Amino acid sequence: MKLLVLGGTKNLGRHVVEAALRDDHEVTLFNRGVTNPGLFPSVRRLTGERADPGVLAAGEWDGVIDMSGFLVRDVRLSAEVLRDRVGHYTYMSSIAVYASKITPGMTEFAPLLPWPDGAPEDHFTMDLYGPSKVRCESLLSATFGDRTAAVRSGFVVGPYNPDFGNWGWALAHDTPMECAARPTQPIQYVDARDLAAFLLHLTVCGLPGPFNAVGPTRTMADLADSWRSVVPDPPPMNWSPTVDRFHLPHDGTNDGTFQLDNTRALTAGLRLRANEEAARDYVAWVQAGNTPPPPPH
Ligand SMILES: NC(=O)c1ccc[n+]([C@@H]2O[C@H](COP(=O)([O-])OP(=O)(O)OC[C@H]3O[C@@H](n4cnc5c(N)ncnc54)[C@H](OP(=O)(O)O)[C@@H]3O)[C@@H](O)[C@H]2O)c1
Repeated sequence: MKLLVLGGTKNLGRHVVEAALRDDHEVTLFNRGVTNPGLFPSVRRLTGERADPGVLAAGEWDGVIDMSGFLVRDVRLSAEVLRDRVGHYTYMSSIAVYASKITPGMTEFAPLLPWPDGAPEDHFTMDLYGPSKVRCESLLSATFGDRTAAVRSGFVVGPYNPDFGNWGWALAHDTPMECAARPTQPIQYVDARDLAAFLLHLTVCGLPGPFNAVGPTRTMADLADSWRSVVPDPPPMNWSPTVDRFHLPHDGTNDGTFQLDNTRALTAGLRLRANEEAARDYVAWVQAGNTPPPPPH
């Protein structure tokens, strides 16, 4: 299919582009040409700012995958330009959309965060990350109806991605694995390549609605054990609230965020690889000389 990717050159988006090229889709990238400009040299590229997406009026596509929609203003502008120019609009959203952080087992239809009165649609702050994703999903539904999907993920692991990168680094370099969260902290993640395949699948098949694209809930300790099992002589585990990764509250007030119900995504076609495979590949990627990127915030 003719596929437009908004973004596509940084952490997760590059896996989407790789998956699309592997499946012989005709890909067009839209970005500023700032991040990894040398990636995918043979792919058609439209250069521009999300705030000024007029260049997108020059084409038509069967589907778009939006990886760079953070600001409501930007998603509104691209939706206006693309309304009659694309078939399916798949939007990369986040698990940060949910109003509750403590309720276990939330499906996609659990209550979402409200939009704060008077908040700016054109200015990004971390406080507005979740509400902006909610508002973007809702404006896309209003514009595209059943021709849009919203994919909600949290931690994303895999080559080029920062999450759990410190564990990959520790295992590759035989330094202690660190975690500030408690060992019983519930946690969910998804491998970037599984997520990319799912984003593509939804777009190709035109599947609508929101999806919790997350893996099964494990405890941090269980997950650490499965990561440690991929090297013959694993380094020690340092569970301390003072280390610099995984600062999740010890009182359980963020536990629901990582106990989401992923049934709808699995039914729609999300395929999840084993934790050990994700860990082994991340360690191999570091051992090949790569450095995990810093966490985004
Ligand atoms: N753990 C996670 O990583 C995680 C979890 C949940 C959701 N998400 C969502 O995943 C998406 C980000 O993933 P990613 O960073 O890996 O995506 P990506 O598509 O690999 O990278 C971001 C892309 O956006 C482009 N871009 C940035 N600012 C732009 C602007 N002002 N105008 C036009 N293009 C712009 C960048 O290229 P240029 O710099 O060249 O413009 C780059 O290609 C976001 O929607 C995020 O909310 C991520």
